[in-house]
This record gives sequence, structure tokens and C-alpha cells, in this order.
Amino acid sequence: MERKLIWSPSSPCLLPFTLCLLLCAAYLQPTQADAAAGTNPAPAGNVAPSCDVKLTSGKDRATIDNGIIELTLTNPEGFVYGLKYQGVENVLETHEPDDFGGYFDVSWDHPGGEGKTEQVKGTKFTVITETADQVELSFSSTWSSSSKELVPLNVDKRFIVQKGVSGFYWYVIVERLKGWPDADMDQHRMVFRPKISMFKYMAVSDDIQRMMPAYKDRMTGQKLAYPEAVLLTSPIEPEFKGEVDDKYQYSLEMKDHRLKGWISDDPKMGFWVISPSEEYAAGGPNKPELTCHCGPICLAMFTSMHYAGLDMVTEYRNGEPWKKVFGPVMVYLNSMSSDHAALWKDAKTQMEKEVQNWPYSFVASADYLPAAKRGTVSGQLLVDDKFLSPTPKEACKAYVGLALPGTKDVSWQFDVKGYQFWTQTDEKGNEVKLGPVTYKAPRNGPTLWEIGIPDRSADEFFVPDPNPKYINRYFIGKPNDKYRQYGLWARYAQLYPKNDLVFDIGVSNYSKDWFFAHVLRYTCSSLDNLSSTYFSSCFIRL
Ligand SMILES: *[C@@H]1O[C@H](CO)[C@@H](O)[C@H](O)[C@H]1NC(C)=O
Ligand SMILES: *[C@@H]1O[C@H](CO)[C@@H](O)[C@H](O)[C@H]1NC(C)=O
Repeated sequence: MERKLIWSPSSPCLLPFTLCLLLCAAYLQPTQADAAAGTNPAPAGNVAPSCDVKLTSGKDRATIDNGIIELTLTNPEGFVYGLKYQGVENVLETHEPDDFGGYFDVSWDHPGGEGKTEQVKGTKFTVITETADQVELSFSSTWSSSSKELVPLNVDKRFIVQKGVSGFYWYVIVERLKGWPDADMDQHRMVFRPKISMFKYMAVSDDIQRMMPAYKDRMTGQKLAYPEAVLLTSPIEPEFKGEVDDKYQYSLEMKDHRLKGWISDDPKMGFWVISPSEEYAAGGPNKPELTCHCGPICLAMFTSMHYAGLDMVTEYRNGEPWKKVFGPVMVYLNSMSSDHAALWKDAKTQMEKEVQNWPYSFVASADYLPAAKRGTVSGQLLVDDKFLSPTPKEACKAYVGLALPGTKDVSWQFDVKGYQFWTQTDEKGNEVKLGPVTYKAPRNGPTLWEIGIPDRSADEFFVPDPNPKYINRYFIGKPNDKYRQYGLWARYAQLYPKNDLVFDIGVSNYSKDWFFAHVLRYTCSSLDNLSSTYFSSCFIRL
């Protein structure tokens, strides 16, 4: 994990920052979704311009073909049915009637309900754009009071295929009108399921890339303390025997989600999910979130309770209206005869292009604002913290963001409804000039002592060794990833069996004497068995 300094005494550096923001008026009064802005096909694409984009739509399917990929969607539901590439009929795992290679789902319920996950089905198919350069399709559904069992949202799923681009773009517009029923939505996401028989190597960052166990191995394994964690006891590939598989071990902070995917060795190709921006994601750049996991599965997460709990539920009360655009996310496909690293590198180049092109100019919905409708804020951030320096210091490598004004209970960290715009860069371009902005660190009188570094990471604290019975071997010998191992919380009770830790100021060392997470202390006769049946019989002392 990368250390994020908010102030660096050794290398003071100027940090001009530039942020893009949606014009407030546009955010508060969204225009009609279908008032398609003049579409201007972007010069995106990794491949030389080739065939024109062709749309074929029939009773059950709509297919867009650009000579590189052929994307098939169910009509009018808008599920991703097929993706043909390099002679492979479908690089996705689709099994009718209800297992699709790609879908958008919402986990929700009415207040007090048990919660359910709904794969949102379109009911109306509309061709938004159809030119030789670009096709954009809409699969929309309109909620009505007679559909009480369906999530109270109007949903418009939009797919774009462009000439010469090896992949497709997907965005989703969700909207609640004023007066609609109360609801709690704890998750909005896109799910992609690359073909099981092909994609076995997962790559979610420069550092985390590996061969993965098979989904079947989880079925034959031993369930651990929660259903996501499984000890692989008889995997198909013996190399995975005795390892813990747990999708949470591959989570990354939202700012690190721009490129992730899977690689197939036969035929050699990559399936990538590119998220060029985090502006639509809940909770800001430091919110950890799932990436890809055993399945194979790859996710584009927009909102979820992961790592934060109930604070991240999108709650609607008293008929509150809402509208948000999730995406566009790009699905990118590449193929080359060389190795995994080459596929990753090429996908990374594509990701960088997409980031450069953001905000896109080719999106038809007026709810997605192109660059011309966005403003820019620039300035310089200083930190005034008398404990560290008598004069304000330039904030080095700080994350600077714009979000809706917080309330007493909701800061940007818990904001799930608005957009957020973050940067760490110093790009040019000024419209709203703030000049220097000084952040006054809250210190009530002289500071006598501090534990750790206030940098939104727990890197500096003590991370225990995992129980050797429950390891993920991939993370052994990677000190920065040690915290990902399963069951570390139980080590706390072994270190402090009777009482919680005591930290003596001036004597204790937070690298050794401060546990990296604040955990509950489990009190069992033995902490060696972390299986779900055994574990549930333990009780917790607070
Ligand atoms: C605290 O412990 C770490 C890890 O053992 C060590 O590197 C560091 O020098 C210690 N710091 C102090 C002030 O003793
Ligand atoms: C842990 O306990 C469960 C239930 O009692 C048992 O089935 C399992 O074999 C035990 N696992 C280990 C590694 O001891």
C-alpha cells in the first residue's frame, strides 16, 4: 500500500491543484435524459479505424458490431449476453435464462426489510445514436406505484460501441422522482463474468496479479468465519490447497480502481474493466472497495456498505428525489502473443487514454456533462498545523476534493448521493481561482503526544502474522499487503488474552504496540480454528 503523506517535512513542494466540477445548476436541475446532446465520436481507440459500426436488433437481442468486437445485449432487458472477440464466440459466461455475462444490480429494500439484490431489467429499447462511427443504445425501465416489489428507480442502461475501439462503454442513469416510496439501497454496481474456461489469471494493480483458484474450489472447501472466506481443501490445482480464498483480500481504495481484469492464456487475451473517473463513486478516493475475485468476476462498484457499514446505505425518506449517472465504465479487450505483463501494460495505456479523455465528449445523455459544461477550480493548499511547523506548509501530494457541503452527520466520506471530484495533479486551467487555501489543522492547545500519522492509512501500526493454517500464500513476503490476510483480528485476542492493550506514552512504540485495527476481542478456549461453525460458538467481550 502506498504511503499517502499529507505533509512531508523533508520535501516541501508546491501543490497547485485543479479540479473539475459539474456546474451546480446542472446538478440540481437535471435535464431530460433523452435530449441527446450532439454526439461527437471521440478519437478513442487502440486500433486503427476499421469497419463501420453496425447495429442489428431483433425481438430478443440487439447486436453491435464494429469489426473488432461484437456486443450482444438482451432486448429489452439490457443484460450483456455476449461479447465476441478474436474468433471467440463469447468471452463472457452466460447461461440462460438468468445468468448473464454482465449486469447492473441494486441491493435494496423498503426500510426494515431483509434486503434483496435485483438485477435491473429494462423494459424499453431505444436506439439513441446510430452512425457509422458510433452506436448508443438505451435499455430503460420506468418505475410505477404498481411495481412495489421493484426498486423504486427509473433506470436507463446505456451502451456505446465506437468505430475502431476494442471494447464498449457502459453507463447507467438512475432516478427517483419526488414522492416515491422510502427505500434503503446499500449497493449499486456492474458485474462482469469473464468465461470460466479461459480466464484464470487476475490482475487488479501493478502489484497484485496472480493465477486464481477456480470457483469450484470454493464449493469443495471449508467455510470460514463469514461466507466469503473459504479454506481451499481440495482445489483442482493442488498449488492452492491449504490457502484461504476471500474476495476482500483483493480490495483497493477507489482511487486505485481504474484498471482491473482477467487474462486468458488460451487464447491469449485480456478482459479489462476501466473506470476512468471516481466522480460517481460513493465515499471518496479512500473508500476501500472490491475489485475482481474468484469466479472469475470483475466489478465496477458505485455504492456499497463495504468497510463502512450502515453509514453507506443510500437512504431515501419523505419522497426525496435523486438522480445520478454511474459511469461510463469501459470494457476493453486486448490480445497479443506475449505474456501477462504485456497485456497488462497495453491495458494500462488504454486506461491512461480514457482518463485523458474524461469527461467524455461522445456520451449522448444530457445528464452526463461533457467538459464544456463543467467548471474548474484551481489553487494551492497549505496546512497550518502549529504542532508541526510555526508557519503554514505546502500540502505535498494531498488529495484535494470537491463534494456537496457536508452536514453534521454526513461528510464526503459517507456521502453516497452526490458526485465528488478529486485530484492530486497540477494540471493547468483556471476558471474559478481560489488562490492559496490554508487548512487549519484542528489542535486544541499544545499537543503533548500523538500515536501514528494522520494520513488515512494504518501502515505504521502493528500488523500481526497470520495464523499459518489460514494464509493466502500470494501475500506472503509482501509486508505492505500483510494486512490483507484472513483472520488477523483473532490474533489480537491471542496477544491480549485478558485485557486490552495499554500504550505507554514515551515508552511504547506504535509500530509494535498499537494494533493496526480496532477489533472486538474474541474469547474462545482456542483461537486456532477459524471455521464458521466453531467461530460462531465464541462469544465476544467488548
Ligand atoms: C519502533 O519500532 C520499529 C519497528 O520495530 C522500529 O523500526 C523503530 O525504530 C522503533 N521506533 C522507536 C522510536 O524506537
Ligand atoms: C474447525 O472446527 C470445525 C467444526 O468444529 C471442524 O469441522 C474443522 O475440521 C476444524 N478445522 C480445523 C482446521 O481444525
